[in-house]
Order: sequence, then C-alpha cells, then structure tokens
Amino acid sequence: MQPIFQTVGIVGTGAMGRGIAQMAAQAGSSVLLFDMQPGAADSARLALADTWQKLSVKGKLTPQEQVDLLARVSCVDALSALAPCHLVIEAIVEKIEVKQRLFSDLEALLPSQAVLATNTSSLSVTAISAALKRPGQLAGFHFFNPVPLMRVVEVIAGLKTDATVCQQLTEFARQFGHTPVSAQDTPGFIVNHAGRGYGTEALRVVSERVADFATIDRILKDQMGFRLGPFELMDLTALDVSHPVMESIYRQYYDEPRYRPSVITAQRLAGGVVGKKVGEGFYVYDNGVARIPAEPSVPTVATLPPVWVSPKAARRPELYQLLKDLGAHIETAAQPSNLALILVAPLGLDVTTLAAVERLDPTRTIGIDMMLDDASTKRRVLATNPATRPDMRDAAHALFAKDGKAVSMVRDSGGFVTQRVVATIVNIAADMCQQGVCSPKDLEVAVTLGLGYPMGPLAMGDRIGPTNVLEILFNMQTVYGDPRYRPSPWLRRRGALGLSLMHEED
Ligand code: NAI
Repeated sequence: MQPIFQTVGIVGTGAMGRGIAQMAAQAGSSVLLFDMQPGAADSARLALADTWQKLSVKGKLTPQEQVDLLARVSCVDALSALAPCHLVIEAIVEKIEVKQRLFSDLEALLPSQAVLATNTSSLSVTAISAALKRPGQLAGFHFFNPVPLMRVVEVIAGLKTDATVCQQLTEFARQFGHTPVSAQDTPGFIVNHAGRGYGTEALRVVSERVADFATIDRILKDQMGFRLGPFELMDLTALDVSHPVMESIYRQYYDEPRYRPSVITAQRLAGGVVGKKVGEGFYVYDNGVARIPAEPSVPTVATLPPVWVSPKAARRPELYQLLKDLGAHIETAAQPSNLALILVAPLGLDVTTLAAVERLDPTRTIGIDMMLDDASTKRRVLATNPATRPDMRDAAHALFAKDGKAVSMVRDSGGFVTQRVVATIVNIAADMCQQGVCSPKDLEVAVTLGLGYPMGPLAMGDRIGPTNVLEILFNMQTVYGDPRYRPSPWLRRRGALGLSLMHEED
C-alpha cells in the first residue's frame, strides 16, 4: 500500500506524538521525530521499538515487519530537518502562541503543497492558522489517548482549510486503520463536546443530593449500560484534565447553560482530590483499586401493602405486569384504598408535583423510573418524596427487590437519574446536529469509539423514544426553570420521526 503521505514529521514526541508516529509508520510512511527536549525523540523511538517488539511476540507482526517499521522511523535534532515532509503533525504543548510560531516556522521550511496538522483538543484550528500565509494547508487531526487503541480521529476544517487537505487526512487515517470523522472548527469538536452531558448532569444530580456518587454510577451502568459511571470516569480522566475542559467549552460557547460546569469539581480540583492517579477522587483508592461503598441492604418487611398505580404512569401495562410477576396485591379501583402503596412513574416531573397534581396522599406515594423497559435493565430506581412514610419506602424497596434485582432509592428530583443524564446527552447531541458540528452519522461513530458509550446519543434517543426525551426535557424545564433543559430545535423537529434514521444529510 502506498501511503498518501510519503514522509511524515511529528513535532512533540510525548504520549500523543509517539502514538501518532506509530500509526504513520504502520500506514507505510517514513517518519521523522522532532522534540525540543533533547533525548525525547530518541526515547520515543525506543518506546516504539518496544511496542513493535511486543506486537511481534504476540504474533501480530512478522519479524520482518517489525524491522521494517523501526527502519522507517528516525529522529532529527532540528526543525529544519523536517523540510522533506509531506505532512507534519504537531503534538506539543497546548498553547496557542507556541503552536502558531511552530506552524509559521514550518510553513517557511516546507513545500507549498505540504499539509500541516494540529492535534489540539481545545484550541481553535482557525486561530492557530490565522497568521499563516497558506492557512488552507492546515487542519485539525485530533487523536485520543492512547492513540493505537482509540481508533477514531477527528479531521477538523478551519474556516480557510482546503477541502482536499481534509480529504487527504481522512484517507490517511483509513490507511492506518483508524475511523476518521469530519468536524467543523467548534469548541470541543465532536467527542469533547458530546461528552459534556454525562458528567455535568450527573454532577447536578449529586449537587441536589438526589443520590451519592456511587449510587449514581451504579444506576447509569446498570440501567443504561455505560461501562463506567460518570464519577468513575472523572476519577480515571482526573479533574485536572476534565474540569478545565468543562470550563473551556462553557466559556467558548459564551456561558451556554447546557455546558455549565459544577462547583463540586472546581472545589475538588482546588483541593487536589483529582482522581485515581493521586489515590483519591470521588472514590478512595488502595493500590489503584477503588473502595466501593456497600449498597444499602434490602429492608425486611413482614407484610407488603396492596399497590395502586397512577393512571398516568409511564409504561403502565408493563408496570402492572411487573407487579404481578413480583406477586404484589394490585388495587384496580379508581382511587387507592387507605392502605395502598401509591406508585407514580413520571417522565421528567418530580414525585411531589405528581402527588399534588393527581391529589394523591404524598405520605404513601413513591416514584419508579419506567423510562426503560424493566427487562432491559439490571436495576430499578425508586424515588421518595419529602413526605413519604418510612414504612412505605421500605415496603416499596422490599417489593421491587423481591426477584433479586438491584434497587436504588433516590430522593425526589425531576427526572430521576438516568432520565436526566440521558435526556441531556441526547439534547446536546441534537444541538450539535442543529449547529452542523458534524453529520449525525459521524457523531454516532465518534461518540461510540471516542467515549465508549454503549450506543451513539441519537440511537440512545431512539431507544427511549424521541417524544419521551422531549417530554422529559419539557417537564424538567418546568421543574427547574433552567434554560439548560430547553430542547434543541433539531430534537423538537425530529422528535416525532426518530433521530437516527433520516434521509436528510444533516
Ligand atoms: P506530553 O507532555 O506527553 O508531550 C508533549 C511533548 O512536546 C514533550 O515531549 C515536549 O518536550 C514537546 N514540546 C513542547 N513544546 C514543544 C515545541 N515548541 N517544539 C517541540 N517540542 C515541544 O503531551 P501529550 O499528552 O503528548 O499531548 C500533546 C498535545 O496533544 C497537546 O497539545 C494536547 O492538547 C494534545 N492532546 C492530548 C491528549 C491527551 O490525552 N494527552 C488528547 C488529545 C490531544
């Protein structure tokens, strides 16, 4: 295979630069490594030799391939030695003036058709290229850490980037086996923008004391299939990395409420409680293993009360079936008896409001999250309201845990936990489509590969039902009076149709 770029220069050979160098060599390019730190390029080459040695031992490379790959990589000790490159990718310090200076120097050295690429994750590609004589030759080429395992790369067009430059980078990414996605030059590009919903909304839930960190993590993993809970994820990424990203995207969008960061992470960052790498974040770590607080035990209840279900409950027939399967005594009269446990299943509204609106006795009213089909989840989530009697709370907990399924009790909030977080993720994704940050297809691919979500955000919206997502958001706007929950026009328009199966390109 003939690589689209014969000779590739890498400037900055830290964690990212060496991963990108590995990819370029594997695509068949000759690679020149340059780092301003003496010895850094050599140690990157040694690290690559080690990586290819390991791949060879595992049988993923032949001994000859291993030799050929390493022979294609050389170190240079001056920027001027990059003059023969057809493409130069920088992965240096994230400072705009430094990147601008580097590209001006490179532009003076390289032939006019050479491509310049920045691996920036937070700076504007347009701003980096603004001072160049040929800004059309520069694009963003944004990789994720660790590069060889995170097989997605964002190709970002600045305002003046030539379309052919993006096409060439896209083709090159395919040559080393990554999935390229195309993004406009907007804050956070695709993956870091789409990722705003998960952590920020989970932090809002915790800041309202609806549930603690560990409970929220359990709920989102067990109900929606996320591999890591939002707090586990923040501990892994570390707040010194993720909090500044939250702030930067929020500020770059001129304080758009959807991206508003949390004082919780600001304070933890200030206090150095940043995550797993320092032994303490939302969880405490012993030798890298998180101490997970035990789940509250299921209360023992001698006699379970009869159960009455609100006629307005979401998935009411399924809830009845579930109650039957659990052996509950179900009341079917128009009104609950004086003994009944009263169940409501709101979408986006809080249990307290429903009890008031439906004239239900709040002391016996409990909410259950029925947004998802019970059979498809590993956990049930129940919410009390401030007046719920402890005996009714315990009875509901015992009843829904009867078949051995995990149950979490949370405090009342518009939208429980999963509804809030998932509706926020879907809404942000819909707004990205509205803005034309990328195509819906690339959004789904980038989020699945870049964030490891169980499915793309638009598919998530379809799974829940777009009209349900809209109902959750409208109701949450009412409960919180917060513009962050206003549905994106894209979501409102397509809500009735389904999000991911559109004939329109955008
Ligand atoms: P790193 O600190 O491991 O490596 C940076 C390397 O660049 C160092 O070896 C340093 O000596 C060298 N360097 C700094 N300024 C230079 C200059 N003016 N000329 C030549 N060499 C220079 O950093 P890492 O993690 O590899 O990240 C590098 C870049 O990649 C940053 O711009 C960052 O935003 C971007 N990025 C980082 C990701 C990550 O997860 N670490 C993810 C995506 C992008």
